[in-house]
Amino acid sequence: MRLDKFLCDCGAGTRSEVKREIRAGLVTVNGEKALRPEQQIDEAKDRVCHRGKPCIYEKYVYYLLHKPAGVVSATEDAKERTVLDLLGEERREGIFPVGRLDKDTEGLLLLTDDGALAHELTSPAKHVEKEYECLLARPFDVTQKYMLEQGVDIGEKEPTRPAVVRILDEKRITLTITEGRFHQVKRMLRAVGNEVVYLKRLRMGALALDETLPAGGFRRLTAEETENLRK
Ligand code: URA
Repeated sequence: MRLDKFLCDCGAGTRSEVKREIRAGLVTVNGEKALRPEQQIDEAKDRVCHRGKPCIYEKYVYYLLHKPAGVVSATEDAKERTVLDLLGEERREGIFPVGRLDKDTEGLLLLTDDGALAHELTSPAKHVEKEYECLLARPFDVTQKYMLEQGVDIGEKEPTRPAVVRILDEKRITLTITEGRFHQVKRMLRAVGNEVVYLKRLRMGALALDETLPAGGFRRLTAEETENLRK
């Protein structure tokens, strides 16, 4: 593997940042200064240090993205900007979004190249919780709350599984669901006579949206977040 790619994969910086740092003499391979970004290294054997600190190769990467409205949850699209375009230089081959948010939905989206974890999180059998904040067109009432908590008919064979509802104010709720059907939240609110005018995902399983990230911003998951997500 190229040295600059290895450093990126370790989270040392973007490709252009690490190239600059290599040329500036801030990287060593097996104790020797390495000045060429294209130098080949063996990630299993070679000891690479960046600014004096050993780099630990990570097999998979995990990004927490605050998805803005107006981008699609796809890896590529002929016409639309995708969530992968937002990663820019940090984009590592094989990364994809875990599940989908509608183009107009904002909030937490996990991006990774770890297919096994993605499968665990999206498998219908696992019932992973997804919590959304919904701004509604009309006042929300306890009848609607009760219906959502029981499960509603959204025109499919099975009604939705019981949801958890928290009322925030007259037209704002959080809804926690354990499925991932197409446009599910919007369809559930429509089924109880209301309508979603703004939707934001706050949480998926143990992973919560980092509210310090602006819409369009992203960061790597911490080791603790990855660990908790796996549990
Ligand atoms: N439910 C929806 O209706 N839209 C989303 O983007 C996510 C869940």
